[in-house]
Amino acid sequence: MEELLKQIEAYKQEITAFTAQNADEVEAFRIKYLGTKGIVKNVMGEMKNVPGENRKEFGLILNAFKVFAEERFEALKESLTATDTTTTSNIDWSLPGDPISAGTRHPLSVVRNQMVAIFKRLGFAVAEGPEIEDDWHNFTALNLPENHPARDMQDTFYVNQNPDYLLRTHTSSVQARIMEKQKPPIRIICPGRVYRNETISARAHCFFHQVEGLYVDENVSFADLKQTLYFFVQEMFGKDAKIRFRPSYFPFTEPSAEMDISCTVCGGTGCSLCKHTGWVEILGCGMVHPKMLDNFGIDSNEYTGFAFGMGIERICQLKFRVNDLRLYSQNDVRFLRQFTGAV
Ligand code: PHE
Repeated sequence: MEELLKQIEAYKQEITAFTAQNADEVEAFRIKYLGTKGIVKNVMGEMKNVPGENRKEFGLILNAFKVFAEERFEALKESLTATDTTTTSNIDWSLPGDPISAGTRHPLSVVRNQMVAIFKRLGFAVAEGPEIEDDWHNFTALNLPENHPARDMQDTFYVNQNPDYLLRTHTSSVQARIMEKQKPPIRIICPGRVYRNETISARAHCFFHQVEGLYVDENVSFADLKQTLYFFVQEMFGKDAKIRFRPSYFPFTEPSAEMDISCTVCGGTGCSLCKHTGWVEILGCGMVHPKMLDNFGIDSNEYTGFAFGMGIERICQLKFRVNDLRLYSQNDVRFLRQFTGAV
């Protein structure tokens, strides 16, 4: 008995002194002390030689020894993961990786891409202009001189340091930029962001998106404008979609119109989206004002043109039935994920 107790003490010292540099050495410890043919098993086997009256006492000692070895094993394992992160032997390289979740295109991008594709098929090229614009391109060149009452139609954000600069209130500023550097024939569309100082609500936002169109050439007529927009609407909303024009006013077009399409939600019978009229306004348009052409040295006796500007959010609302403008810029993935698969 004495022998055995001494032996256990010696093992304990050995166990305490045991160190492991890597997983293989920890495993060596486990096999040596805790394995099926290990020392702990062996020592436990000595129980059968212990006389009956000492059994209880010995049982406790042997058990404590077993726990002692197990605890050391756990400690060795832990010290390894804490210090030696380069150990690779227990990494399973064959496990599949974490799946990468594919992103989704923003619904406004989806609709913008569709709009651009339709107009490209009609021969329109994509043009761009700056969002921080000067007064001339956003207003004056578009026949909106200073103090013109129509400037009040658009609540403009001006740049504090220099009020000659502003955030463009419409993509029509790109009309001016194109006409100042390009001669007819001109056939461009310009998708982009515009800004207006409006209180944010479900129906209004301080920024939104437009697609501008401009076509200048010989013999361009209002009929061409109507046919172009009709083609667009049929491609975008299908053959059942109808359009109607209402006379309107823009300083840079004459005559001017606003265009409605038959409500895509109720098909024209009346619902909350079309305010029970059966029609939804989607754009402003008209024949380019001769004065604007002259502003840019394009002879208004020789050339005519049409222009239009439509809101992408509105088209998106009709296509996807989004009823709150704020959703577009809140980046709520629950909203965005609904457009997975749309391209
Ligand atoms: N720029 C006008 C707007 O934002 C729309 C428009 C564009 C009207 C082109 C006529 C021609 O309301």
